[in-house]
Amino acid sequence: MLDVSRLRAFSGIQPTADSLHLGNYLGALRQWVALQDDYDCVYSVVDLHALTVSPDPAALRTRVRATAAQFLAAGVNPEQSVLFVQSQVPEHTQLTWLLNCITGFGEASRMTQFKDKSAKLGDKGVTVGLFDYPVLMAADILAYDANVVPVGEDQRQHIELSRDLAIRLNSRFGEGTARVPEALIMQSTARIYDLQDPKAKMSKTGHPAGIIELLDSPKVITKRIKSAVTDSGTVIKWDPKNQPGLANLLAIYAALAGQTPEEVAQQYCGKLYGHLKVDLAELVIEALRPFRERTAEYLADPAALDGLLEEGREKAAAIAGAVYARIAERFGLTPRANRGPAA
Ligand code: AMP
Ligand code: TRP
Repeated sequence: MLDVSRLRAFSGIQPTADSLHLGNYLGALRQWVALQDDYDCVYSVVDLHALTVSPDPAALRTRVRATAAQFLAAGVNPEQSVLFVQSQVPEHTQLTWLLNCITGFGEASRMTQFKDKSAKLGDKGVTVGLFDYPVLMAADILAYDANVVPVGEDQRQHIELSRDLAIRLNSRFGEGTARVPEALIMQSTARIYDLQDPKAKMSKTGHPAGIIELLDSPKVITKRIKSAVTDSGTVIKWDPKNQPGLANLLAIYAALAGQTPEEVAQQYCGKLYGHLKVDLAELVIEALRPFRERTAEYLADPAALDGLLEEGREKAAAIAGAVYARIAERFGLTPRANRGPAA
Protein backbone atom coordinates (compact mmCIF):
# COMPACT_ATOMS: atom_id res chain seq x y z
CA MET A 1 0.00 0.00 0.00
CA LEU A 2 1.18 3.53 -0.64
CA ASP A 3 2.67 5.21 2.37
CA VAL A 4 2.16 8.97 2.19
CA SER A 5 4.93 9.70 4.67
CA ARG A 6 7.55 8.51 2.19
CA LEU A 7 9.02 10.41 -0.72
CA ARG A 8 7.58 9.52 -4.08
CA ALA A 9 9.45 8.36 -7.20
CA PHE A 10 7.96 8.41 -10.70
CA SER A 11 9.43 7.15 -13.95
CA GLY A 12 8.43 5.70 -17.30
CA ILE A 13 9.78 3.86 -20.31
CA GLN A 14 8.27 3.90 -23.79
CA PRO A 15 6.93 0.68 -25.30
CA THR A 16 8.81 1.23 -28.55
CA ALA A 17 10.61 -2.12 -28.86
CA ASP A 18 9.96 -5.80 -28.17
CA SER A 19 12.85 -5.78 -25.74
CA LEU A 20 14.39 -3.15 -23.52
CA HIS A 21 18.16 -2.78 -23.87
CA LEU A 22 21.05 -2.73 -21.47
CA GLY A 23 21.06 1.10 -21.41
CA ASN A 24 17.44 1.14 -20.19
CA TYR A 25 18.25 -1.47 -17.59
CA LEU A 26 21.46 -0.04 -16.17
CA GLY A 27 20.47 3.60 -16.66
CA ALA A 28 16.95 3.38 -15.28
CA LEU A 29 15.18 0.12 -14.51
CA ARG A 30 17.74 -1.17 -12.05
CA GLN A 31 17.43 2.05 -10.02
CA TRP A 32 13.65 1.75 -10.11
CA VAL A 33 13.86 -1.63 -8.46
CA ALA A 34 16.38 -0.49 -5.85
CA LEU A 35 14.25 2.54 -4.87
CA GLN A 36 11.22 0.48 -3.94
CA ASP A 37 12.29 -0.16 -0.36
CA ASP A 38 12.73 3.50 0.47
CA TYR A 39 10.33 5.37 -1.80
CA ASP A 40 6.73 5.23 -2.78
CA CYS A 41 7.20 4.27 -6.44
CA VAL A 42 5.00 4.82 -9.45
CA TYR A 43 6.19 3.33 -12.75
CA SER A 44 4.51 3.64 -16.10
CA VAL A 45 4.58 2.17 -19.58
CA VAL A 46 4.37 5.52 -21.37
CA ASP A 47 2.44 4.55 -24.48
CA LEU A 48 1.30 8.11 -25.29
CA HIS A 49 4.95 9.10 -25.67
CA ALA A 50 5.44 6.15 -28.02
CA LEU A 51 2.73 7.57 -30.33
CA THR A 52 5.14 10.34 -31.30
CA VAL A 53 6.99 7.85 -33.51
CA SER A 54 3.76 6.63 -35.24
CA PRO A 55 4.00 2.97 -34.25
CA ASP A 56 2.03 0.25 -35.95
CA PRO A 57 -1.09 -0.24 -33.72
CA ALA A 58 -0.70 -4.02 -33.44
CA ALA A 59 2.97 -3.71 -32.52
CA LEU A 60 2.19 -1.03 -29.94
CA ARG A 61 -0.45 -3.25 -28.34
CA THR A 62 2.02 -6.13 -28.01
CA ARG A 63 4.82 -3.92 -26.77
CA VAL A 64 2.81 -2.35 -23.97
CA ARG A 65 2.39 -5.80 -22.40
CA ALA A 66 5.95 -6.83 -23.25
CA THR A 67 7.33 -3.72 -21.58
CA ALA A 68 5.19 -4.18 -18.47
CA ALA A 69 6.32 -7.83 -18.27
CA GLN A 70 9.94 -6.69 -18.41
CA PHE A 71 9.42 -4.15 -15.59
CA LEU A 72 8.05 -7.00 -13.47
CA ALA A 73 10.79 -9.42 -14.52
CA ALA A 74 13.42 -6.86 -13.53
CA GLY A 75 11.92 -6.73 -10.04
CA VAL A 76 9.27 -4.01 -10.01
CA ASN A 77 6.99 -5.39 -7.32
CA PRO A 78 3.30 -4.64 -7.88
CA GLU A 79 2.55 -5.26 -4.20
CA GLN A 80 4.90 -2.45 -3.30
CA SER A 81 4.77 -0.08 -6.27
CA VAL A 82 2.19 1.22 -8.71
CA LEU A 83 2.68 -0.16 -12.22
CA PHE A 84 0.33 1.13 -14.92
CA VAL A 85 -0.19 2.13 -18.54
CA GLN A 86 -0.05 5.90 -19.10
CA SER A 87 -2.96 6.22 -21.56
CA GLN A 88 -5.31 4.53 -19.10
CA VAL A 89 -5.10 7.52 -16.75
CA PRO A 90 -6.58 10.49 -18.68
CA GLU A 91 -5.24 13.08 -16.23
CA HIS A 92 -1.85 12.83 -17.99
CA THR A 93 -3.26 14.40 -21.14
CA GLN A 94 -5.52 16.78 -19.24
CA LEU A 95 -2.62 18.12 -17.21
CA THR A 96 -0.52 18.34 -20.38
CA TRP A 97 -2.98 20.90 -21.73
CA LEU A 98 -2.73 23.05 -18.62
CA LEU A 99 1.06 22.88 -18.78
CA ASN A 100 1.03 23.65 -22.51
CA CYS A 101 -0.61 26.93 -21.61
CA ILE A 102 2.26 27.96 -19.32
CA THR A 103 5.14 26.61 -21.45
CA GLY A 104 6.95 29.04 -23.70
CA PHE A 105 7.19 28.08 -27.36
CA GLY A 106 10.86 29.05 -27.29
CA GLU A 107 11.41 27.08 -24.12
CA ALA A 108 10.01 23.92 -25.73
CA SER A 109 12.00 24.64 -28.91
CA ARG A 110 15.25 24.44 -26.95
CA MET A 111 14.82 20.76 -26.00
CA THR A 112 17.82 19.04 -27.53
CA GLN A 113 16.08 15.69 -27.95
CA PHE A 114 13.37 17.41 -30.02
CA LYS A 115 16.00 19.19 -32.09
CA ASP A 116 17.87 15.92 -32.73
CA LYS A 117 14.76 13.91 -33.52
CA SER A 118 13.22 16.56 -35.74
CA ALA A 119 16.49 17.05 -37.62
CA LYS A 120 16.46 13.32 -38.41
CA LEU A 121 12.81 13.31 -39.48
CA GLY A 122 12.90 16.44 -41.63
CA ASP A 123 10.06 18.95 -41.94
CA LYS A 124 7.37 16.56 -43.09
CA GLY A 125 7.73 14.00 -40.31
CA VAL A 126 7.71 16.35 -37.34
CA THR A 127 4.43 16.45 -35.46
CA VAL A 128 3.06 18.74 -32.78
CA GLY A 129 3.05 15.63 -30.57
CA LEU A 130 6.81 15.24 -30.88
CA PHE A 131 7.24 18.90 -30.00
CA ASP A 132 4.99 18.52 -26.98
CA TYR A 133 6.62 15.31 -25.75
CA PRO A 134 8.54 17.01 -22.90
CA VAL A 135 5.38 18.73 -21.65
CA LEU A 136 3.56 15.39 -21.52
CA MET A 137 6.55 14.06 -19.59
CA ALA A 138 6.30 16.96 -17.13
CA ALA A 139 2.59 16.20 -16.71
CA ASP A 140 3.46 12.54 -15.92
CA ILE A 141 5.79 13.64 -13.17
CA LEU A 142 3.75 16.48 -11.69
CA ALA A 143 0.51 14.44 -11.69
CA TYR A 144 2.02 12.23 -8.97
CA ASP A 145 3.66 14.95 -6.88
CA ALA A 146 6.90 13.07 -7.52
CA ASN A 147 9.95 14.03 -5.47
CA VAL A 148 12.44 12.11 -7.57
CA VAL A 149 12.63 10.83 -11.12
CA PRO A 150 15.10 7.99 -11.74
CA VAL A 151 16.32 8.20 -15.37
CA GLY A 152 19.41 8.10 -17.55
CA GLU A 153 21.43 11.20 -18.38
CA ASP A 154 19.61 11.81 -21.69
CA GLN A 155 16.48 12.84 -19.75
CA ARG A 156 18.13 15.51 -17.61
CA GLN A 157 16.96 18.45 -19.72
CA HIS A 158 13.38 17.18 -19.77
CA ILE A 159 13.38 16.98 -15.99
CA GLU A 160 14.77 20.51 -15.80
CA LEU A 161 11.73 21.60 -17.82
CA SER A 162 9.43 19.75 -15.39
CA ARG A 163 11.10 21.57 -12.51
CA ASP A 164 10.74 24.95 -14.24
CA LEU A 165 7.05 24.31 -14.91
CA ALA A 166 6.42 23.26 -11.29
CA ILE A 167 8.20 26.38 -10.02
CA ARG A 168 6.16 28.50 -12.44
CA LEU A 169 2.88 26.94 -11.26
CA ASN A 170 3.79 27.71 -7.67
CA SER A 171 4.76 31.28 -8.38
CA ARG A 172 1.68 31.93 -10.52
CA PHE A 173 -0.96 30.10 -8.51
CA GLY A 174 0.57 29.89 -5.05
CA GLU A 175 2.90 27.56 -3.16
CA GLY A 176 1.69 24.00 -3.00
CA THR A 177 0.24 23.97 -6.51
CA ALA A 178 2.91 21.52 -7.71
CA ARG A 179 5.81 19.64 -6.18
CA VAL A 180 9.19 20.43 -7.72
CA PRO A 181 10.82 17.11 -8.77
CA GLU A 182 14.48 16.19 -8.92
CA ALA A 183 16.30 13.98 -11.39
CA LEU A 184 17.90 10.92 -9.86
CA ILE A 185 20.71 9.90 -12.16
CA MET A 186 23.13 7.15 -11.21
CA GLN A 187 26.42 8.59 -12.43
CA SER A 188 28.25 5.32 -13.09
CA THR A 189 25.58 4.08 -15.51
CA ALA A 190 24.00 7.36 -16.57
CA ARG A 191 24.97 6.74 -20.18
CA ILE A 192 25.71 3.32 -21.66
CA TYR A 193 27.21 3.66 -25.13
CA ASP A 194 26.58 1.95 -28.46
CA LEU A 195 28.93 -1.04 -28.83
CA GLN A 196 29.68 -0.09 -32.44
CA ASP A 197 29.95 3.65 -31.84
CA PRO A 198 31.12 4.40 -28.31
CA LYS A 199 30.46 8.11 -28.76
CA ALA A 200 26.70 7.57 -29.24
CA LYS A 201 24.36 6.38 -26.49
CA MET A 202 23.02 2.85 -26.75
CA SER A 203 19.58 3.36 -28.29
CA LYS A 204 16.88 1.39 -30.07
CA THR A 205 17.20 3.74 -33.02
CA GLY A 206 20.98 3.32 -33.16
CA HIS A 207 23.23 0.74 -34.82
CA PRO A 208 21.45 -2.68 -34.53
CA ALA A 209 24.75 -4.44 -33.67
CA GLY A 210 25.50 -1.72 -31.14
CA ILE A 211 22.84 -2.68 -28.64
CA ILE A 212 22.30 -5.58 -26.26
CA GLU A 213 18.63 -6.29 -25.82
CA LEU A 214 17.65 -7.76 -22.49
CA LEU A 215 15.80 -10.59 -24.25
CA ASP A 216 18.65 -11.42 -26.67
CA SER A 217 19.79 -15.06 -26.72
CA PRO A 218 23.19 -15.95 -25.19
CA LYS A 219 24.50 -16.49 -28.71
CA VAL A 220 23.57 -12.98 -29.85
CA ILE A 221 24.93 -11.42 -26.66
CA THR A 222 28.28 -13.15 -27.17
CA LYS A 223 28.42 -12.03 -30.78
CA ARG A 224 27.59 -8.41 -29.96
CA ILE A 225 30.20 -8.18 -27.21
CA LYS A 226 32.89 -9.94 -29.24
CA SER A 227 32.40 -7.53 -32.11
CA ALA A 228 32.22 -4.45 -29.89
CA VAL A 229 34.49 -1.70 -31.16
CA THR A 230 37.44 -1.21 -28.87
CA ASP A 231 40.17 1.29 -29.29
CA SER A 232 43.53 0.97 -30.95
CA GLY A 233 45.32 0.56 -27.61
CA THR A 234 46.15 -2.87 -26.23
CA VAL A 235 46.48 -2.08 -22.55
CA ILE A 236 43.44 -2.51 -20.35
CA LYS A 237 43.03 0.59 -18.23
CA TRP A 238 40.19 2.93 -17.21
CA ASP A 239 40.53 5.86 -19.57
CA PRO A 240 37.08 6.91 -20.83
CA LYS A 241 38.46 9.92 -22.65
CA ASN A 242 41.00 8.13 -24.81
CA GLN A 243 39.55 4.62 -24.78
CA PRO A 244 35.76 5.11 -24.83
CA GLY A 245 34.97 1.70 -26.34
CA LEU A 246 36.93 -0.15 -23.68
CA ALA A 247 35.57 2.14 -20.95
CA ASN A 248 32.00 1.28 -21.97
CA LEU A 249 32.75 -2.45 -21.59
CA LEU A 250 34.42 -1.84 -18.23
CA ALA A 251 31.45 0.24 -17.05
CA ILE A 252 28.96 -2.49 -18.02
CA TYR A 253 31.13 -5.14 -16.35
CA ALA A 254 31.48 -3.05 -13.20
CA ALA A 255 27.75 -2.31 -12.97
CA LEU A 256 26.85 -5.99 -13.24
CA ALA A 257 29.60 -7.24 -10.94
CA GLY A 258 29.06 -4.59 -8.28
CA GLN A 259 32.59 -3.22 -8.67
CA THR A 260 34.06 0.07 -9.82
CA PRO A 261 35.38 0.27 -13.40
CA GLU A 262 38.84 1.01 -11.99
CA GLU A 263 38.76 -2.25 -10.04
CA VAL A 264 37.73 -4.21 -13.12
CA ALA A 265 40.51 -2.56 -15.16
CA GLN A 266 42.97 -3.48 -12.44
CA GLN A 267 41.79 -7.08 -12.47
CA TYR A 268 42.41 -7.31 -16.24
CA CYS A 269 45.66 -5.42 -16.21
CA GLY A 270 48.11 -7.24 -18.50
CA LYS A 271 45.36 -9.35 -20.07
CA LEU A 272 43.99 -9.13 -23.62
CA TYR A 273 40.83 -7.31 -24.70
CA GLY A 274 39.51 -10.67 -25.93
CA HIS A 275 39.77 -12.08 -22.46
CA LEU A 276 37.71 -9.26 -20.98
CA LYS A 277 35.10 -9.67 -23.72
CA VAL A 278 34.67 -13.41 -23.10
CA ASP A 279 34.17 -12.85 -19.37
CA LEU A 280 31.87 -9.88 -19.91
CA ALA A 281 29.68 -11.91 -22.28
CA GLU A 282 29.38 -14.59 -19.62
CA LEU A 283 28.52 -12.03 -16.97
CA VAL A 284 25.81 -10.40 -19.10
CA ILE A 285 24.32 -13.77 -20.12
CA GLU A 286 24.10 -14.96 -16.52
CA ALA A 287 22.66 -11.65 -15.31
CA LEU A 288 19.97 -11.72 -17.99
CA ARG A 289 19.06 -15.43 -17.91
CA PRO A 290 16.56 -15.19 -15.01
CA PHE A 291 15.23 -11.93 -16.46
CA ARG A 292 14.44 -13.64 -19.77
CA GLU A 293 12.76 -16.54 -18.04
CA ARG A 294 10.61 -14.35 -15.83
CA THR A 295 9.55 -12.16 -18.75
CA ALA A 296 8.38 -15.29 -20.61
CA GLU A 297 6.40 -16.39 -17.56
CA TYR A 298 4.59 -13.07 -17.27
CA LEU A 299 3.84 -13.04 -21.00
CA ALA A 300 2.48 -16.59 -20.86
CA ASP A 301 -0.43 -15.36 -18.74
CA PRO A 302 -1.80 -12.20 -20.35
CA ALA A 303 -4.98 -12.22 -18.23
CA ALA A 304 -2.95 -12.10 -15.02
CA LEU A 305 -0.74 -9.38 -16.45
CA ASP A 306 -3.77 -7.31 -17.47
CA GLY A 307 -5.16 -7.82 -13.97
CA LEU A 308 -2.00 -6.38 -12.44
CA LEU A 309 -2.12 -3.42 -14.81
CA GLU A 310 -5.76 -2.79 -13.91
CA GLU A 311 -4.90 -2.73 -10.21
CA GLY A 312 -2.09 -0.31 -11.01
CA ARG A 313 -4.42 1.88 -13.05
CA GLU A 314 -6.82 2.20 -10.14
CA LYS A 315 -4.08 3.27 -7.75
CA ALA A 316 -2.53 5.66 -10.28
CA ALA A 317 -5.90 7.21 -11.15
CA ALA A 318 -6.61 7.92 -7.48
CA ILE A 319 -3.36 9.87 -7.11
CA ALA A 320 -3.42 11.67 -10.47
CA GLY A 321 -7.12 12.48 -10.14
CA ALA A 322 -6.61 14.31 -6.86
CA VAL A 323 -3.49 16.17 -8.04
CA TYR A 324 -5.12 17.20 -11.31
CA ALA A 325 -8.22 18.50 -9.50
CA ARG A 326 -5.99 20.59 -7.22
CA ILE A 327 -4.04 22.13 -10.10
CA ALA A 328 -7.08 22.67 -12.36
CA GLU A 329 -8.88 24.46 -9.54
CA ARG A 330 -5.91 26.83 -9.13
CA PHE A 331 -6.10 27.67 -12.82
CA GLY A 332 -9.71 28.72 -12.25
CA LEU A 333 -11.35 25.84 -14.06
CA THR A 334 -14.81 25.03 -12.78
CA PRO A 335 -15.06 21.58 -11.25
CA ARG A 336 -17.83 19.35 -12.55
CA ALA A 337 -21.02 19.87 -10.50
CA ASN A 338 -21.81 17.02 -8.18
CA ARG A 339 -25.42 16.22 -8.96
CA GLY A 340 -25.69 13.56 -6.32
CA PRO A 341 -26.77 10.00 -6.99
CA ALA A 342 -28.24 9.38 -10.44
CA ALA A 343 -32.06 9.19 -10.47
P1 AMP B 1 13.33 5.25 -23.42
O1 AMP B 1 13.60 3.91 -23.97
O2 AMP B 1 13.77 6.36 -24.29
O3 AMP B 1 11.91 5.38 -22.95
O4 AMP B 1 14.26 5.35 -22.13
C1 AMP B 1 13.92 4.75 -20.93
C2 AMP B 1 14.92 5.03 -19.84
O5 AMP B 1 16.20 4.45 -20.14
C3 AMP B 1 15.19 6.52 -19.59
O6 AMP B 1 15.30 6.74 -18.19
C4 AMP B 1 16.51 6.76 -20.27
O7 AMP B 1 17.22 7.82 -19.70
C5 AMP B 1 17.21 5.43 -20.04
N1 AMP B 1 18.21 5.17 -21.10
C6 AMP B 1 17.96 4.99 -22.41
N2 AMP B 1 19.10 4.77 -23.09
C7 AMP B 1 20.11 4.80 -22.17
C8 AMP B 1 21.53 4.63 -22.25
N3 AMP B 1 22.14 4.37 -23.40
N4 AMP B 1 22.25 4.73 -21.09
C9 AMP B 1 21.63 4.98 -19.90
N5 AMP B 1 20.31 5.16 -19.77
C10 AMP B 1 19.53 5.06 -20.89
N1 TRP C 1 10.98 10.51 -22.01
C1 TRP C 1 11.42 9.37 -21.25
C2 TRP C 1 12.45 8.59 -22.07
O1 TRP C 1 12.41 8.54 -23.24
C3 TRP C 1 10.28 8.47 -20.88
C4 TRP C 1 9.34 9.15 -19.95
C5 TRP C 1 8.08 9.61 -20.23
C6 TRP C 1 9.58 9.47 -18.59
N2 TRP C 1 7.52 10.16 -19.14
C7 TRP C 1 8.41 10.10 -18.12
C8 TRP C 1 10.67 9.27 -17.75
C9 TRP C 1 8.31 10.58 -16.80
C10 TRP C 1 10.56 9.76 -16.42
C11 TRP C 1 9.40 10.39 -15.98
O2 TRP C 1 13.27 8.00 -21.51
